[in-house]
Amino acid sequence: MSLYDKIHETADFIKGKISTAPAAGIILGSGLGGLVDLVTVSLEIPYGEIPNFPVSTVKGHAGKLIFGTIADTNVVMMGGRFHYYEGYSMEEVTFPVRVMKALGVDTLVVSNAAGCMNVKWKVGDIMIITDHINQFPEHPLRGANDERLGPRFPDMTEVYDKALIGEAKKIAAAQGLDVKEGVYVGLQGPTFETKAEYGWLLSIGGDVVGMSTVPEVIVARHGGMRVFAASIVTDMGIREDDNVITHEEVLAAANEAAPKLAGLVASLVGGTRNP
Ligand code: HPA
Repeated sequence: MSLYDKIHETADFIKGKISTAPAAGIILGSGLGGLVDLVTVSLEIPYGEIPNFPVSTVKGHAGKLIFGTIADTNVVMMGGRFHYYEGYSMEEVTFPVRVMKALGVDTLVVSNAAGCMNVKWKVGDIMIITDHINQFPEHPLRGANDERLGPRFPDMTEVYDKALIGEAKKIAAAQGLDVKEGVYVGLQGPTFETKAEYGWLLSIGGDVVGMSTVPEVIVARHGGMRVFAASIVTDMGIREDDNVITHEEVLAAANEAAPKLAGLVASLVGGTRNP
């Protein structure tokens, strides 16, 4: 079966269960599951019940599609995402974004936990992603291009929607929330970086680094969706001390800053119109 047919088989299965099409899709990154509390949930579908969906394996990632509303906006949320480092193919990692698009989603919101190279920032800071550097070893659009899904050579000069960034900054100011803006470097992991690598990532123009987001965002842009993404700084890659970085530390920092980002995303998405 072609990717296009698989996407539509999955979307048709989901359409049979929901009464209203979602306008916004949200990928809940590490520790950001708390956003669910700001959503009026109408339906949850475990990934295991969705045809063609991969199943999530990592600690802290639940593995279900969650449908509901934020203010009056219909949303679909991924509780648990698929990482390339888990062994999924790029097609699997980005498949849910394709399905969201087929369901009618035109705005994708992505969150993640990230390590920080910008020495002016600290753990717990929230960074709106204004651009990215793709360091994944494989490209999600590699292979034959199906024009029904998007163009062969998509523009990447303006990946992160300026209007959404502007809106998010206004909301953050109104909520008294300090937000940074910067460049996310996406790479495969699963190791955190060496000190030399953090230094290199800084030198190529990165502010933060993580193991997700870039593939999903590229596919969203391929499909013509508007994208907003934000990182929570969970660890400092560049710093004086010799502490090691652990997954537990990353999750704890993400959980602590999560309510702030959740409030921001809820207000942003609450202002998104339905299709
Ligand atoms: N590096 C890569 N990915 C990450 C990090 C990091 O330091 N922190 C959270 N995700």
